[in-house]
Order: sequence, then C-alpha cells, then structure tokens
Amino acid sequence: MRILFVCLGNICRSPAAESIFSHLIKARNAQDRVSCDSAGTASYHQGEKADPRMLQALRAQGYPEPSRSRPVISSDFYNFDLILAMDRSNYNNLRKSCPKPELQGKIKLFCSFGITHEEEVPDPYYGGNQGFTMVIKLVEGVCISLIEDCLNVTSPPSS
Ligand code: 4NP
Repeated sequence: MRILFVCLGNICRSPAAESIFSHLIKARNAQDRVSCDSAGTASYHQGEKADPRMLQALRAQGYPEPSRSRPVISSDFYNFDLILAMDRSNYNNLRKSCPKPELQGKIKLFCSFGITHEEEVPDPYYGGNQGFTMVIKLVEGVCISLIEDCLNVTSPPSS
C-alpha cells in the first residue's frame, strides 16, 4: 500500500502527515507493507524543507523530518494506491490534474479516514504556532485510523 499525502505547498500539512505516518509504519514494523510520501498541488516551494514552525512542532513530538517539498506529478497517479487531499481545494485540483478517469478513485479526502468530524485539515501557514500543534493532533488521529485500515485489509482501504 503506497500512500501520497497532498496539500497546497507541501511544507505544512502533507509533510506532517508523511512524518507521522512514517513513524507509525515503523512502530508497527510495517515497512514491507506500507509506504508513504507527500507532495503539493503548487510548486512554489519546490526543493524547500518543511516550514520551520512545522519542523519544530514535529521534532518536539519525536517525529522524523519529512522530505523536501515537491509538486504532484502525473506518474504519482499510477505509482500510489491512495492519494489523500488535506482539503477540498486540493481534492478538486487533484481530480483536475489526474491523467486518466479510471485513476480518480484513488483520490480521497484525508479526513474521511479518521473518526474526526473535521472534513479538512486547516491551513496553518498564515496563523500562529497553535495552528501547527492543532494540525499535528488532527493528523495523528487520522493517521492512526489509516494505518489500522492499511494493516487490516489487502486491497486499498475505502472511506
Ligand atoms: P500547506 O500550507 O499547503 O499545508 O503546505 C501552505 C504553505 C504555503 C502556502 C500556502 C499554504 N503559500 O501560500 O505559500
């Protein structure tokens, strides 16, 4: 099961999901069954490390450093089993850039895998530090449900 987490800039929300989910994969010893990466629907932060505020918040919780920002590319729709959008705008943009209609079923809202009432992970970029902590809490909850789904099924989990 290969999962791609997607937000707008790939410097705040999707790197947090990549970091937290990578930690859970390792903790469950599931590296041979599950893998993940993250990307952005926009490319303006390409090559940059995650936002320093997010890196600090992740580090404070003992989570690993995520990969550098990269945009979603066409081959992602073939190479990943699930493509999880952090908000509706990312979801709509992913559907527009999906190269084949039959691959669109891989695109889902990240929050639909959690037991949260939130539909979207709010963008913390223009806010204060507590927005980053809140994103981590929300992402942790969804990632715990997601890893359980991944380990309990043989085909891609559906929400
Ligand atoms: P992200 O947050 O999509 O969670 O990485 C953002 C990062 C950068 C910008 C917007 C959102 N920006 O406008 O540069």
